[in-house]
Amino acid sequence: MKVTVVGAGNVGATCADAVARWELANEVVLLDIKEGYAEGKALDIWQTSPINLFDSRLTGSTNDYTRTEGSDVVVITSGLPRKPGMSRDDLIATNAAIVKSVTENVVKHSPDAIIIVVSNPLDVMTYCAFLNSKFPSQRVFGMAGILDTARYRAFLAEALNVSPKDIQAVLMGGHGDTMVPLPRYTTVGGIPVTELIGAEELDAIVERTKKGGGEIVNLLGTSAWYAPGTAAAQMVEAIVRDQKRVFPCCVWLQGEYGLKDVYMGAPVILGRKGIEKVLELKLNADEMEALNTSAKAVKEVMEVLDKMNSVTA
Ligand code: NAI
Ligand code: 2OP
Repeated sequence: MKVTVVGAGNVGATCADAVARWELANEVVLLDIKEGYAEGKALDIWQTSPINLFDSRLTGSTNDYTRTEGSDVVVITSGLPRKPGMSRDDLIATNAAIVKSVTENVVKHSPDAIIIVVSNPLDVMTYCAFLNSKFPSQRVFGMAGILDTARYRAFLAEALNVSPKDIQAVLMGGHGDTMVPLPRYTTVGGIPVTELIGAEELDAIVERTKKGGGEIVNLLGTSAWYAPGTAAAQMVEAIVRDQKRVFPCCVWLQGEYGLKDVYMGAPVILGRKGIEKVLELKLNADEMEALNTSAKAVKEVMEVLDKMNSVTA
């Protein structure tokens, strides 16, 4: 098994570290555009192998995609965070150009790969990789839901003083303030969460989850990486071990939930073929309204990308 992680920054290096440590591939390639950066990170991670006891081999590469040849899974984390003075459209343009060129190079060298996108704005960058890869959507999807539910589950574990291992949850929609956590589908050791926590406290946790990324940006001055990088590695694990895990992933909806031609979060079965099935939950009227609002917000950003493409085409 061969896994490539593009972007050797905070998220990419954390993901490559987990992929190697969990022995998800015998070959892990880390690639970055910054001279020597991926080589340095790969070497550092490899030097943890006698301590963490893994055999996966790591290679670093400065923008040489021949090293990625024949990858089974490629995780794209390359992209800039938003900087002061940059509009959302500027960020989309910058990151879309990066994701487009990375995707083209990935496809050239790994035509059968499964692509997991992490770069932000997540839903639209996944759409960008889909358009440029020309792969079936089953093989192009994004990581956000595992991270967002992990935040939600961690906050709940703290509030209830229980193990996060026992909290199961699902969350839908775009990766942003309009995401849709679903308390009705949240359980603690099989018990509906609503039986264990008051409505007000649960609402506060849902709100904190929606702003979970921003909370870390405010503390660190940059976005999170431990949870995002590990969440992406968990998706790699589900694929390479054909686990058929049920995860919320950013997927191309084609009529599910009454939504069409939009990339956003929904529960899926994830296995060796990629997205093996999109699961359709029965949502009530409020949940459906929240999902439609989120879809509208994501579509607006997708349209910005479509307009850019029609100008540059
Ligand atoms: P970072 O700045 O630490 O790393 C990004 C890396 O991408 C840099 O090393 C840079 O040199 C590299 N890069 C830029 N252009 C490239 C190109 N054309 N080819 C190869 N490498 C290139 O950023 P960090 O913290 O690792 O975040 C990466 C991306 O992930 C950002 O867009 C961030 O917003 C996003 N993110 C998404 C999350 C999600 O839930 N989907 C969560 C956290 C971050
Ligand atoms: C996060 O949720 C900012 O997408 C990034 O941490």
